[in-house]
Amino acid sequence: MKNLMGSDPRGSDPIGVIGCGNMGAALIAGMVKSRFIRPGGIVVWDPDAAKLKRLPAGIRRARSNGDLAGRSRVILLAVKPQQMEPVLEEIRPHLQRRPLVISIAAGISSRWIEERLGGAVPVVRVMPNTAALVGKGIAALSPGRRATGSSLRVAGRIFRGVGEVVQVPERWMDAVTAVSGSGPAYFFFLMEQMITAGVRLGISRETARRLVLATAEGAAELARSSGEDPALLRGRVTSKGGTTEAAFKRFARAGLGPILQAGIRAAAERSKQLGR
Ligand SMILES: NC(=O)c1ccc[n+]([C@@H]2O[C@H](COP(=O)([O-])OP(=O)(O)OC[C@H]3O[C@@H](n4cnc5c(N)ncnc54)[C@H](OP(=O)(O)O)[C@@H]3O)[C@@H](O)[C@H]2O)c1
Repeated sequence: MKNLMGSDPRGSDPIGVIGCGNMGAALIAGMVKSRFIRPGGIVVWDPDAAKLKRLPAGIRRARSNGDLAGRSRVILLAVKPQQMEPVLEEIRPHLQRRPLVISIAAGISSRWIEERLGGAVPVVRVMPNTAALVGKGIAALSPGRRATGSSLRVAGRIFRGVGEVVQVPERWMDAVTAVSGSGPAYFFFLMEQMITAGVRLGISRETARRLVLATAEGAAELARSSGEDPALLRGRVTSKGGTTEAAFKRFARAGLGPILQAGIRAAAERSKQLGR
């Protein structure tokens, strides 16, 4: 398998992953599972040895972030936003080969990274979500000023290992963060509320949980496979004078729709405030 940057990811140019927490580990597992790269083609660094131990067998450990940067054709930055500045300082002196730098840090612009790495390095900014942990994520990719079509193809291959990929202009990133980055939490909240309501209506917690999770999965699958607008699908289960209509009348009286819209706008606003 030739990689799209023109080098073989199984060869001597590894993909380096800095930070092997939730996302870093999920992306490594996805790359190995999708056979984008063999484990020996991945080199990692994380100060927490316990996290490195949990990675698939055969993955190489760097001695430091600088060592990793000097060896890698692609560097995947999977540390928390507040850990990013010292990491960029560490890797900057080791980037003679101008690797592709991919960052998943929320709120950190490609320009901010480019400036800290000397301006000449191609950067792709990505907003994934936590469903990447089960291979069902969606990642939005934006090219930095130096990123090429091949940079985007390589980044796309990495994130397709853990779900879907969509390319977006970087100015959309605060909105993407609010919609799909934080999005799983909104659905978890809805699940919590539905389970609690079921329990209060007399169903056991275990059964309520089963009912809710299967319903969530079924609704998502129906919306996806039919390709129909969710509003239309909702209309079809809402018969006049029926039970679903009773629920929606109550939701509308409480202003649930506008409240959800306002919450998502607040998330986008917060993303903008936190942004660098
Ligand atoms: N989780 C999500 O749902 C999600 C969604 C979208 C975007 N993101 C982005 O993904 C990034 C990672 O999130 P996460 O949830 O995977 O965080 P995480 O589980 O805390 O993983 C970050 C890892 O980086 C390690 N680390 C700290 N300093 C380091 C350094 N100098 N060099 C190398 N590794 C270092 C941390 O070790 P210690 O724990 O010892 O500090 C930790 O193992 C964040 O920037 C976040 O904004 C996450």
